[in-house]
Amino acid sequence: MKQSTPEDAKEGAPEKDGDPKDEHGEQDEHDEHGHVEAPPASADTIARRQLLGKMSVALGVAGGVALGVPMVGFIVAPLFRKAPREWRAVGKIEQFKVGETVNVVFVDASPLPWAGVTAKTAAWLRRVSETEFEAFSVNCAHLGCPVRWMAEAKLFMCPCHGGVYYQDGSVAAGPPPHALPQYPVRVTDGQVEIRTDPIPIG
Ligand code: FES
Repeated sequence: MKQSTPEDAKEGAPEKDGDPKDEHGEQDEHDEHGHVEAPPASADTIARRQLLGKMSVALGVAGGVALGVPMVGFIVAPLFRKAPREWRAVGKIEQFKVGETVNVVFVDASPLPWAGVTAKTAAWLRRVSETEFEAFSVNCAHLGCPVRWMAEAKLFMCPCHGGVYYQDGSVAAGPPPHALPQYPVRVTDGQVEIRTDPIPIG
């Protein structure tokens, strides 16, 4: 029988706390604070993590597109829709005196869903004779500022850049590139009606 030696006793003794070797005698990785670090990931694990990361990004992008495209379409589509032309009643014929030019308000033919009060627009309406009317845009042909009718001077004046128009809407002075646009007007069953039209600006 072999006699046990002091070296054998040392081998069988439990490891002391803080011994860096594991049960297989391999060295654990410690950082400077004494924490055990995870063993390095294998190439397979890294590849799987990268794949999962890419799939997460792809799913996120797909979800964003699925939600975003209909919303953008809802907001932008009305801007490209052709404005319809509608007749709008602006008052009874007896409300208007021959020779007078007055401001009338009506609802635009194609208000945007979010337009609110801006769906309303206006025109300068003149009763030329018992049966004849003419209507001018309130928006200057230069950059769209509202023009005013100056009854005494018989001129339309734009306060923004000094644009001036004669009473027939033609340009008298200033930067407007063309005459004030006009709306078609008709009288139906005693109601004066204006037909909404897109107003060319600039
Ligand atoms: S917007 Fe009327 S003159 Fe410029």
